[in-house]
Amino acid sequence: MSKLINLAIIGPGLVGSAYIRQLAAIKSKAISYNVILIARSSKALVSRDYSPLSLQSWEADLNASTDKLAEPSEILAFLKQSPNPVILVDNTSNETLAKAYPSFVENGISIATPNKKAFSDDISLWDEIFDASAKPGAGLVYHEATVGAGLPIIGTLNDLVNTGDEIQKVEGIFSGSLSFIFNNYSTVQGSDLKFSDIVLKAKDLGYTEPDPRDDLNGLDVARKVTIVSRLAGYKVKNASSSFPVESLIPKPLESVSSAAEYIQRLPDFDGELDKLRKEAEAENKVLRFVGSADLSGTPDVKVSIQKYDASHPFASLQGSDNVIAIYTKRYTNPLIIQGAGAGDDVTAAGVLADTIKIAQRL
Ligand SMILES: NC(=O)c1ccc[n+]([C@@H]2O[C@H](COP(=O)([O-])OP(=O)(O)OC[C@H]3O[C@@H](n4cnc5c(N)ncnc54)[C@H](OP(=O)(O)O)[C@@H]3O)[C@@H](O)[C@H]2O)c1
Repeated sequence: MSKLINLAIIGPGLVGSAYIRQLAAIKSKAISYNVILIARSSKALVSRDYSPLSLQSWEADLNASTDKLAEPSEILAFLKQSPNPVILVDNTSNETLAKAYPSFVENGISIATPNKKAFSDDISLWDEIFDASAKPGAGLVYHEATVGAGLPIIGTLNDLVNTGDEIQKVEGIFSGSLSFIFNNYSTVQGSDLKFSDIVLKAKDLGYTEPDPRDDLNGLDVARKVTIVSRLAGYKVKNASSSFPVESLIPKPLESVSSAAEYIQRLPDFDGELDKLRKEAEAENKVLRFVGSADLSGTPDVKVSIQKYDASHPFASLQGSDNVIAIYTKRYTNPLIIQGAGAGDDVTAAGVLADTIKIAQRL
């Protein structure tokens, strides 16, 4: 008889829908995955008797539903009564749900998620989650897709640390949109494209958030660097004030109210980065927007523009790929992980792979 695992999927958005598509196509004989809850903020599809929901008609069924289950305490009360082990699949970026992870985990409910909030908020939440998870009978917590989407970054860092390696430095290009922008703005051959034109192109191609300032303020990269630093053994207190984060938003444009006005006025500030690009070109280098955690001496964590030699792996990055270089006691030449670091399908695959790992361990 196969093992039965119940899944509660919160957030059927871009990643959540791709996750359900991939889950429906799994051909595991050893484990059966029964979805007992699919919830968005306004409504939910709830299997009150814990029988499996249909993964073929879920979208129509959810639209037709008049049920609602959005409060973490209500979700927990429902999941606690499940006759089979439960994995909460949080495909939202919701902070309230993230803050409730410890109570789920304490109650034996495991978590698979791409939601960065829980892992890059104050270190006290991180400690609460992983302390709770270490107790007998507690849920497991996997969050591979919080950094680099489906790329095997978190698992690799955990394996290195768990086998006794020492992480000396982690540096990477963690943002797809900023990867695209700098890969075009500063090239090994030299580029005279304007920064403002590339930002606009990245926005038009859907690589940035609707307001590109949400990428260019560096905070998303700061959250990812916080997560990798913590996994590497350095307990960064929080992502917003514990280390320097360079913003690419010109000061006068930080407070303009609309994305449209920001885009319209951005060309006035093209000169600021041009100077740096010319300096880099004169040294046969390129500019990249990098997050790094150097733990070899006094910890030095930062998010900033850096110059790299034309021969460095970061210099030849293509499109909107992410790349991360991990230097350890064993890997003195860095271990490099590179590939698409965003996109619904690769992110969903990262969350599903975590779900399967948890299910195999339960
Ligand atoms: N897309 C990517 O390439 C990518 C890459 C790496 C990581 N991620 C992460 O993956 C997560 C999902 O991203 P996405 O692109 O799929 O976002 P999305 O399309 O905006 O979907 C978010 C979903 O979460 C639901 N939701 C929000 N708050 C909720 C709540 N309180 N209760 C229940 N449902 C709630 C939304 O439903 P309503 O609309 O009804 O609120 C929506 O269905 C985020 O944490 C994101 O950072 C995404």
